[in-house]
Amino acid sequence: MRTPDICTEDEIRTLVHAFYASIRSDAALGPIFGAHVADWDRHLAKMVDFWSSVLLGTARYRGTPMPAHCALPKLTPALFQRWLALFHATTRTLGNASMQARADELAARIAQSLWYGYQLFNVPGDMPAELAAG
Ligand code: HEM
Repeated sequence: MRTPDICTEDEIRTLVHAFYASIRSDAALGPIFGAHVADWDRHLAKMVDFWSSVLLGTARYRGTPMPAHCALPKLTPALFQRWLALFHATTRTLGNASMQARADELAARIAQSLWYGYQLFNVPGDMPAELAAG
């Protein structure tokens, strides 16, 4: 029997829209997204597909996040931590503890993986550091 979904598509849409609203008004992250996202409707739809894929297994997202992030200038552990802090602050407001726990854990793991990839691509000689180690 199929495991019951931990959230609905509506909850994912709410999460993504609330999260990127807080990203866009953030002093550190807002300008980065402002410089690289020209079409917000398209970005939000893509991110709803991404979170639907990872939380519900719908496989609607078929993109490649690693090269998109490796190409961004001057990413740092502090920026990833800030991204995660805003994400966790958003999932806390949803009133769905299972979704919150799973989304938070997945976001932290993907952030770590993107930070490893970023370092390997941009400073290939160095041993990639953990996100938390800064
Ligand atoms: C410092 C932290 C981060 C920054 C500054 C950042 C910034 C961005 C920007 C500017 C884009 C748009 C790129 C473009 O369209 O050219 C993007 C796309 C994306 N981001 Fe992030 N991001 C961060 C962390 C994360 C994390 C932790 C995740 C996942 C948990 C994530 C998932 C994605 C995905 C799936 C896309 C779409 C890639 C594609 O298929 O085009 N990002 N990000």
